[in-house]
Amino acid sequence: CGIVGYIGDRNAQEILTEGLKKLEYRGYDSAGVAVFTKDGLQVKKAKGRLAVLESELEKKPLEGTAGIGHTRWATHGKPSDVNSHPHTDNSMKFSVVHNGIIENYLALKEELIAEGRVFVSETDTEVIAHLVASLYKGDIVAAVRDAVKRMTGAFALGVLTEYEPDKLVAVRYASPLIIGVGENENFIGSDIPAILEHTRNVYILNDGEMAVLTRDAVELMTLEGNFISREIFHVDWDIITAEKAGFDHFMLKEIHEQPKAYRDTMGSRLSADGRSVVLNELNMSKEDIQAISRIHIVACGTAYHAGLIGKNVIEKLARIPVETDVASEYRYRTPIITKDTLVIVVSQSGETADTLAALREAKRCGARVLAITNVVGSSAAREADDVITTWAGPEIAVASTKAYTSQLIAFYLLGLYLAQTLGTVSADEIAETIAGLRKLPEQVEAILKDSSAIESYAKQIAEHEDLFFIGRGLDYAVALEGSLKLKEISYIHSEAYAAGELKHGTLALIEEGIPVIALAIQSDLFEKTVSNIKEVKARGANVFGIAAEGEEELAKSVDQVFYVPKTLDLLSPALSVVPLQLLSYYASLALGHDVDKPRNLAKSVTVE
Ligand code: G6P
Repeated sequence: CGIVGYIGDRNAQEILTEGLKKLEYRGYDSAGVAVFTKDGLQVKKAKGRLAVLESELEKKPLEGTAGIGHTRWATHGKPSDVNSHPHTDNSMKFSVVHNGIIENYLALKEELIAEGRVFVSETDTEVIAHLVASLYKGDIVAAVRDAVKRMTGAFALGVLTEYEPDKLVAVRYASPLIIGVGENENFIGSDIPAILEHTRNVYILNDGEMAVLTRDAVELMTLEGNFISREIFHVDWDIITAEKAGFDHFMLKEIHEQPKAYRDTMGSRLSADGRSVVLNELNMSKEDIQAISRIHIVACGTAYHAGLIGKNVIEKLARIPVETDVASEYRYRTPIITKDTLVIVVSQSGETADTLAALREAKRCGARVLAITNVVGSSAAREADDVITTWAGPEIAVASTKAYTSQLIAFYLLGLYLAQTLGTVSADEIAETIAGLRKLPEQVEAILKDSSAIESYAKQIAEHEDLFFIGRGLDYAVALEGSLKLKEISYIHSEAYAAGELKHGTLALIEEGIPVIALAIQSDLFEKTVSNIKEVKARGANVFGIAAEGEEELAKSVDQVFYVPKTLDLLSPALSVVPLQLLSYYASLALGHDVDKPRNLAKSVTVE
């Protein structure tokens, strides 16, 4: 989510909406602003992209020179007008914007309800507005400080009260917040781009610090009330770099966000003792799970590729037959969907037209539908019987990276959960897989630490018009995704082949110097893949091998080799796809293409 705040002489509404535009990459399912007007503190908020809020504000502007704004990416409570920020107390005298989570919000909510306060939203943030109002005794700074003492979790806050319209209070606690210092005006922002248009002078708050902003001063203090003096930080990056957190493109930023996305998606879904998966969000009883006779996984594009891995994972762990299909085919091929079929739709956006059509067809046939989606409150999430949310955060680049790998994590969790319920896998094997899952984030970090080999290979392939990916088993499924990624953003023609299938046609295309990327990670198929590598080598291919650390043998059969950290074969796609993502990124870069917005493609395809 994104926060912006302003206090000064200029039109606050304009500054807030402009700031929010710069933060849309942090969330865009709803937005809102609160401004001090001559009629008191007025709030306007709307579900949907920021443009919806803007058009409402155009009809009825909020005139004033101080306010706070927010752009949301839903966690607690679906995207809706009431769940959007800012939140207010019942008197409408206090208004709050918040990033992060208030872990103890349910307990606080009960207390505040007992005091007679009435809640209108499902969010944790509304608790803060009521709590500050309840603790207010004429000093907003003291009330915010007292409220924060009662809250656990992570939060960045902007707070206004109509009783003290010359003050804007900001708090940082485990969620970033910065203060922008202007002339006769001051700002807050969850991120530098929100304010960079107006000032380059900022204070970066540390955890456990707060700030009180007036039109012409900023006071920094600890949450205990001790004043702090701090040097101003002068921002010398341009706004574009700032939006991308210093990365050149959103895609690269999102590739680097994968360790966090893995951790967040696993989060509390792994039991503390590491021996079971907890999927409280599923409404399925043990009997419901036992009644599943087959599973259909339906999705488009990259999400379909995640579904191919999902098939392998579920079949191996839970021994339930799984078919994976692209949604545009599935919906028209009269699939056999019975009441004991579980249909899993996978969609980053939760809005892809073909995927939703498949979901509706499945429901019509009486199947149970589970959605794996990255967007809380999306159509897929609303219409499915069960939802597993991937916590990758907003994905901006058209080419999907962190959403895909988070979908893989979701499938691992689901596969393990089904297996532990059905008893198809031993408790030790479950524990071993969970231990492997837990190591993945740092293993991805290790891959990301040095991408120079991938970068230089990307420059080599950028000179070619055709390229092949080969692999077996799960490596083949990853090869398909690697090939799609490359096509999407570098426009190099590539095809992924099941290595054992080469001899049945594709081998005819292999000639001197053609690049072949060979994934040889699945340990039980290693020898087989190596024989296929030899077949293409014998026809002159230039082979770039990808293997698990320790498989030094591969170096003898290929021209270059890239090692990924060793994990269980089943989990390896979550690692081996990372060099392929980087490869397509650097190839696109070398060719001078628009990495984040490739030609002819859209992030979300909401038409058939
Ligand atoms: C578009 C995007 C792809 C995405 C696919 C499915 O084609 O460009 O990156 O994989 O749609 O989108 P979804 O939101 O359903 O995962």
